[in-house]
Amino acid sequence: VDELLLIPGPTPVPVSVRQAQAGPMMNHRSEPFAQILREVLGGLRWLCATRQPVLPYASSGTGALEAAVTNVLSPGDRVLALSCGAFGDRFARIARSYGAEVTKIDVEWGKAIPPDLVAHALEQDEYRALLVTHNETSTGVQNDLTAIAAARGNHPALLLADAVSSLAAIPLEMDAWGLDVVATASQKALRCPPGVAFVAASERAWAAHREARMPRYYWDFTITRDALEQSLAQTPFTPPVSIFYALQEGLRLIRNEGLQEGLARHRMLGRATRAGIAAMGLRSVADEPCASWAVTAVWLPDGVSAGQIVCPMRDQHGIALAGGQGQLEGKVFRIGHLGSVYPADILRCLEALERVLRSLGLTVPEEAGVRAAQQLFDEEAAGVA
Ligand SMILES: Cc1ncc(COP(=O)(O)O)c(C=O)c1O
Repeated sequence: VDELLLIPGPTPVPVSVRQAQAGPMMNHRSEPFAQILREVLGGLRWLCATRQPVLPYASSGTGALEAAVTNVLSPGDRVLALSCGAFGDRFARIARSYGAEVTKIDVEWGKAIPPDLVAHALEQDEYRALLVTHNETSTGVQNDLTAIAAARGNHPALLLADAVSSLAAIPLEMDAWGLDVVATASQKALRCPPGVAFVAASERAWAAHREARMPRYYWDFTITRDALEQSLAQTPFTPPVSIFYALQEGLRLIRNEGLQEGLARHRMLGRATRAGIAAMGLRSVADEPCASWAVTAVWLPDGVSAGQIVCPMRDQHGIALAGGQGQLEGKVFRIGHLGSVYPADILRCLEALERVLRSLGLTVPEEAGVRAAQQLFDEEAAGVA
């Protein structure tokens, strides 16, 4: 029996995606591969809701963040990094590593970035860019990107969004919201193995790219776009061909479910997970209004270590959960509910969690978590939630 993978990425890869990935290797500079590439990148444009090209890179999500930064900025540029967790911190570090003058605003972990803070901070300096993590995977908080983009108003700062754990799990509309760079990766809500990252840039970001002098070669937008625009569409460097087979199928599954339906499923899974843990006496790190649709960080009960939950969940129940990161290490455990995750998976997780909590000597009302989550699923099915 496969382990039930409820870490916040990589996420479970459906059987049909795995089968697609097992296809024979092909020439990556051939018409059949060009067709796959066009279909996958077209799918990504649809998911990002953008008219701009989407550029693929053989890398993990962090590569896409590095591509975002290095392609539109120059050393010495003033950058405003808004961080409410480990991935916000990472985005800031990348910009600093390449010589940007970064001002980082730290929002308390577990809280969302207040949009009015953005408006106020932008007035203080001539920032060239604003770095925002859409879904902060380390805390289970989703930021209101629409409101943050609106708070930027007419300020010329480019808005660079880390959508690694949000795209296809949480609504995102790049063009309509005025996002300038969106970065994501294959192993989260796209339900594919790790290996491909994607970046899309607005017209303003492309204009900035032409002036941007941060060092880059592999990540260079122009090199990648030029290769894609050849009559035989291709990537400049050897792509992870098999992951593209997987992406083609993963995107078909997303289309078949319907994007809105898939987003609604993620919202429901988040609500059910939080209802379930609350009924067992546990607390979500994120406040309800900003609680993520993709991942839930749960405070560890007093005197309990992350390993005391994560290890028996894995060894006795076959369910993979994650511990905490950064300043939340040793304080939380995390349940991923993004990609190919369904109500039955959450119910199985809550049932196992109840047993683990009991075995640790905690008092948990019988079936409380499962019942609370099931009630939420029933209400959603009846259309009352
Ligand atoms: C919000 C966010 N940003 C960036 C990353 C980094 O992605 P990767 O580990 O693929 O480099 C992750 C991965 O968990 C993430 O959740």
